[in-house]
Amino acid sequence: MSNFLPFRCVAIIGLGLIGGSLAKTIRRYRLAKSVVAYDQDTAALDMALQSKIIDQRAASAAMATVQADFIVLATPVQTMTVVLQEIATTIRPDALLIDVGSVKTQVITAASQILLPDVFKRFIPCHPIAGAEKSGVMAARDDLFAQHKMILTPLAGTDQAALYRITQFWEAMGMQVLRLTAEQHDKILAMTSHLPHLLAFSLVHSLVETEESLDVFRYAAGGFADFTRIAASDPRMWHDIFLANKSEVLRALAWFREDLNDFAQAIEHEDSASMLSAMAEARSARQYFAHRLTQTGFTMQQNSAKPQMIHYAIDLASTIKISGTIQVPGDKSISHRAIMLGAVSTGRTEITGFLEGEDNLATLQAFRLLGVVIEGPNQGKVVVHGVGLHGLKPARDALYLGNSGTSMRLLCGLLAGQLFDSILTGDASLSKRPMARVMVPLRQMGAKIRARGDQFAPVHIQGRQSLKGTSYTLPIASAQVKSCILLAGLYAQGETRVIETGISRDHTERMLQGFGYKGLQQEGQQICIHSGYTLQGQPIQVPGDISSAAFFLVLASLLPGSDLLLEGVGVNPTRTGIMDILQQMGADITLLHARSVTGEPVADIQVKAACLQAVTIHHDLVPRAIDEFPVIFVAAAFAEGVTHIQGIKELRYKESDRIRVMGQALTQLGIRIEEQEDAVTIYGIGCGTDLHSTNHSKSLMLPTKAIPSSGALYIETQGDHRIAMASVIAVFVLNHVIRIESPAKKSAMKIIIRDCANVATSFPGFVDLLKQLGLTMQVITE
Ligand code: S3P
Repeated sequence: MSNFLPFRCVAIIGLGLIGGSLAKTIRRYRLAKSVVAYDQDTAALDMALQSKIIDQRAASAAMATVQADFIVLATPVQTMTVVLQEIATTIRPDALLIDVGSVKTQVITAASQILLPDVFKRFIPCHPIAGAEKSGVMAARDDLFAQHKMILTPLAGTDQAALYRITQFWEAMGMQVLRLTAEQHDKILAMTSHLPHLLAFSLVHSLVETEESLDVFRYAAGGFADFTRIAASDPRMWHDIFLANKSEVLRALAWFREDLNDFAQAIEHEDSASMLSAMAEARSARQYFAHRLTQTGFTMQQNSAKPQMIHYAIDLASTIKISGTIQVPGDKSISHRAIMLGAVSTGRTEITGFLEGEDNLATLQAFRLLGVVIEGPNQGKVVVHGVGLHGLKPARDALYLGNSGTSMRLLCGLLAGQLFDSILTGDASLSKRPMARVMVPLRQMGAKIRARGDQFAPVHIQGRQSLKGTSYTLPIASAQVKSCILLAGLYAQGETRVIETGISRDHTERMLQGFGYKGLQQEGQQICIHSGYTLQGQPIQVPGDISSAAFFLVLASLLPGSDLLLEGVGVNPTRTGIMDILQQMGADITLLHARSVTGEPVADIQVKAACLQAVTIHHDLVPRAIDEFPVIFVAAAFAEGVTHIQGIKELRYKESDRIRVMGQALTQLGIRIEEQEDAVTIYGIGCGTDLHSTNHSKSLMLPTKAIPSSGALYIETQGDHRIAMASVIAVFVLNHVIRIESPAKKSAMKIIIRDCANVATSFPGFVDLLKQLGLTMQVITE
């Protein structure tokens, strides 16, 4: 029940589907003490009175309004002018007036001419984005409006108190109230509502006129039914709407005709590229815009109207050993680059093993908006129809890159060299990540690039700059910064030289070579690129992501008796820091069947349980394991002894401040961890008891104060995918080593890892893969 102060008497003029539903909803939520209505159709009024939808029927519109402190015009839009003339002199001085028509400028103009200025101030034009194909008061429903949008189009002189009260009125029945100007409203609705209705009517009408019309309806497939559902709407109402919004409807229709002509031409000339491009863009746009508006993921249900919160709940039950053979999904970094380089190559790039995670889908979508035809993804297969280095087209809107830092930073470099402007945006986390690290070298090359506070997204890139080569020494070991500069170098005059001071992943360099780019040289720690050469589309087989494999390497190492084979994992030496670190800790890891797959080293990795020992990790190893530290912290937490990790300040600039957030997660689980600005010390509790030692005293005791009476312990991830997955690993290992005095208490306890939806950015099948190994958790959706 809302605290909305009810109106005394509401007068509804026009008792069709909307007016009748409004009367019903007002009664349901008790938003007015009485409801009086008028309609030309006296039978409708009788019926409404009999079924107690209204309290009173009036003999005329004017009679209805005399007593009302709230008047609703719900007649067809073309009759509103006449109604306004009829009621103008009977409206009470304190009454609020609204209309609920689908076109706004026309009714506002009429109201401004007919109503007294004082009354006009309290006229609020409203348009509920709700309806049904059925018409008339018989079809009225009291749930027609809840969970729908309501657009208000107030004017500069609108009384603010009246506007507030009307907003509260709609909200009280569960509507989401939005505001537009009347002109914006009519323009947008012409495209999104009026045009589709016109097309539905027109399609059915044109088919009715064919000789085969009976067959058309007899064999009507789902497509016909879906597309023409709205042709069952009220013809009189739509007639009025099309006329009331004539100029905008005709404008929308002209655009549509043009597009339809293009389609006809493309079919006529069997121009597959144009056809695919238009249809692929349309297909993805539908999902993409919904995703952008609601901030939900690309892989989330299309119908989901709000961002989904996903939590993992794991029972404190004993964990089993893991064994068997698994495949982790494709490498995120390589998947990004395959789309990017494929897009600016000539010819086809067929990608297999593409990671269908949110981050890569953001890159894929961005290139579609830049005019590249991309087929898929379909079970890891993507075909990019390259447009060449100079074939990208300006995107009509900002490019939304979700959570993906790699997409944003690499695109900054590629787009700085284009002949058009671009805007890059991202989700809340990406909008907090530093972009100056790419802006500084790009500006040195002559790029024009702006960002919020000169640091954060949205990033505005001004094209048409003639970039010049530069020599840039990376202040941090970052593959993203390096790759950004190399991509800008494809468009810069002269030589672009990147000098690395530490090792960072070299997928961009390898792939440029793989695509036959002739202007790339590598001299030790320096990479030089010259523009003026071309890239040739290539088949790319993306190997399994070692960053995803890392969770299983640690898990299998720490669960006694485990023996796991991870097939087809990328083992590029710039990425294998995790294996070096784990091996230093005493892990039992073997590389099998080492091979090269489209320019990247790949192997199967066998990992067996081992008792891990603490280590000291120095800064030089950090870039080669940069994304794996959350799970390396877990390995250290369950190793024997005290682990020191140095030179990890960069972790503070990832999807979350990973030193702090992972530190807090482990602290919650009872691990002692000390954090410095650039380093961390983790006091390992040992790897359990059953297999490795008979000394039970080392088993972890969860701090009892951390166990709330409800039996659940919460871990916050700050929406960081790798913190979420590392926490899962920590909890499964904890399940093995934990001792709590009362076994009953242990089995009643749950650990809830919060805010895990972003696991889909890099490892969409994570939960299923664990399940395949016999490790289950509950996925809670909010
Ligand atoms: C990546 C580089 C790394 C890494 C990120 C992916 C890449 O970032 O953390 O997940 O694909 O180039 P930095 O280059 O900023 O270290």
